[in-house]
Amino acid sequence: MSILEIGGVPVDRIAEKCGTPVYVFDEAKIEKQLADYKRYFVSDMFDTDIVYASKAFTCRAMIQKLVEAGACIDVVSGGELFIAEQGGMPMENVYFHGNNKTGEELEQALDAGVGTIVLDNLTECGILADLAEHKRKRINAMLRINPGVEAHTHEYIMTGGSNSKFGISINEKDAIAELVKRAGESEYVDFKGFHSHIGSQIFEDTAFMKATEVLISFYAEMEREYGISCSWLSLGGGFGIRYTDADKPMSVEDMCRSLIGKCEDVLKKEGVSMEKIMIEPGRSIAGEAGYTLYTVGYQKTAGDRHYIFVDGGMGDNIRPALYQAEYDADIANRMGEEKEEEYYVAGKYCESGDILIKQIMLPKKIEKGDLLVIYSTGAYGYSMASCYNGIGRAPVVFAKDGKARTVLKRETYRDLVRLETDEEVNI
Ligand code: LLP
Repeated sequence: MSILEIGGVPVDRIAEKCGTPVYVFDEAKIEKQLADYKRYFVSDMFDTDIVYASKAFTCRAMIQKLVEAGACIDVVSGGELFIAEQGGMPMENVYFHGNNKTGEELEQALDAGVGTIVLDNLTECGILADLAEHKRKRINAMLRINPGVEAHTHEYIMTGGSNSKFGISINEKDAIAELVKRAGESEYVDFKGFHSHIGSQIFEDTAFMKATEVLISFYAEMEREYGISCSWLSLGGGFGIRYTDADKPMSVEDMCRSLIGKCEDVLKKEGVSMEKIMIEPGRSIAGEAGYTLYTVGYQKTAGDRHYIFVDGGMGDNIRPALYQAEYDADIANRMGEEKEEEYYVAGKYCESGDILIKQIMLPKKIEKGDLLVIYSTGAYGYSMASCYNGIGRAPVVFAKDGKARTVLKRETYRDLVRLETDEEVNI
């Protein structure tokens, strides 16, 4: 019987000091993923950028790790941009995405000196050009296009199909040419190229290969037919990770080599060149580095189910309820024990759907007070957390080399009423 360690820190110590539930990140794992992407996503034919999708998990400590690794960042709202700024991300390394950015968000981006806006439609292009001219601020622009390539993943996180809400369909060439022309009319907007993101938690490189081919061929066609020249291409993110044994993701090295190889081949075949190609991994940088620790409370047998209840649930991890996502877990203070009994791990929220794991084998006779760890919760856990049922968001701890530090505090009862007010609205 042993105790799980994360970043060289025994988790019972973290639970004792910080309480549960608590998200714990193994910093070295984040660093390794970043280093691998930086190392393997390189080519002699073009420059590359790793653009971390901060929606997966963001806070100042995370941004600092990206800055240290020389990675760029993708933000999708004024709020994510604000966090990136607070964390010290150089603003020229920010890519601002979103299908419905507000005028205020575009202004915020221009004022902050954001490097690139990833446009979603023609109207947005016009608004950006007007704002940039008015403010006399230069900005790079890319356009999100939809390559019509379907990836095999959950419907809610599939984005590249022809009926997706994101971007302009690759088939609408005239509309795309008009947008590029509109951007070109502005001396403040520098149109750089196209962006696509086909979905998330994708394991095989097949869909990425297909999208790469479609995108580069599309670009070559736009150059031939409309005289459009551009220099950047973003292939988006979506690289799968391991949640359970059923998941068999490609290594970062293999995925990068395969993508780079494909880009080089298609560029040669089409006879076009590209100055820079980027990818936008989110989950595959933060996901497996994150763990959630819970304390086991009561248990119950109902029909053929044996439930163990934990002190968190859908408020700290909405993914099982929202996407039927599956996770692996252990009793963190009884590692290595034989797993002889089947359990349902349920949370403490007032919803029947608040079940974190269905049918998992764990040691016999789990006791009240035991620590349950769920693996691979680093991406889209904290960032999608809520304070439903008046349960404040759990803290985030970073652990490395036997030391731990809290990077986000637990939301307190006081925090739950912090925004309440009685202010009159002057209408
Ligand atoms: N780039 C763009 C434009 C995106 O929309 C996304 C994710 C990414 C990059 C990063 O994808 P990743 O490498 O993290 O898979 N909440 C869902 C995932 C939604 C992903 C949305 N866009 C989940 O928990 O599975």
